[in-house]
Amino acid sequence: MIFTVAIDGPAAAGKGTISRAVAAEFGFAHLDTGALYRAVGVKGGDPVTAARGLEPTDLARDDLRTLEAGQAASRVAAIPEVRAALLEFQKRFARREGGAVLDGRDIGTVICPEAEVKLFVTASAAVRARRRWLELGGEAAAQPYAAVLAEVEERDARDRNRADAPLRPAEDAVVLDTSDLDSAAAVAQAVALVAAALAARG
Ligand code: DC
Repeated sequence: MIFTVAIDGPAAAGKGTISRAVAAEFGFAHLDTGALYRAVGVKGGDPVTAARGLEPTDLARDDLRTLEAGQAASRVAAIPEVRAALLEFQKRFARREGGAVLDGRDIGTVICPEAEVKLFVTASAAVRARRRWLELGGEAAAQPYAAVLAEVEERDARDRNRADAPLRPAEDAVVLDTSDLDSAAAVAQAVALVAAALAARG
């Protein structure tokens, strides 16, 4: 069975949690496409060469989730040749046998416009920054909340305003605003949507 769930949205909106839960619920494979751009960003050197030569070990690094890696990812993601180098792998993953969940910025618009389910997961910048700050340790974090908020807003602006594959909801995406939802409620809504689409396919 070929069945793709495309989950897009800005940083720290809850895409990762929702994607992993949906993949586990339905036994689909999951690809965190942000990790590809993070790996290119932290690899250093020429980003186009890094993207063309990306290897599984690059994706296993333990420094991919830092704020710096997020910023580096957002910068290299604006380079069309970097995006082009990562395109085929993502397209193939999306249509693999057995079902796939991909989360990122352009899955429903560019990577897999034919996805059976498209979700755009969002939340206010303040809520997203607070979640990211708590993840980084809250009061014990190296960065104060204001710095995390500034980072989130800067990354949003760059991802939304780039010319190639900017962050935006596909026309047929269901928008899920998680500002006032806990993760269990957000996951339940996403799972219900996928279950309905699977049932409709028969
Ligand atoms: O989802 P994330 O925070 O790990 O993504 C890091 C950066 O990578 C994000 O700011 C923009 C870029 N990205 C992208 O351009 N397209 C994707 N499909 C996924 C991520």
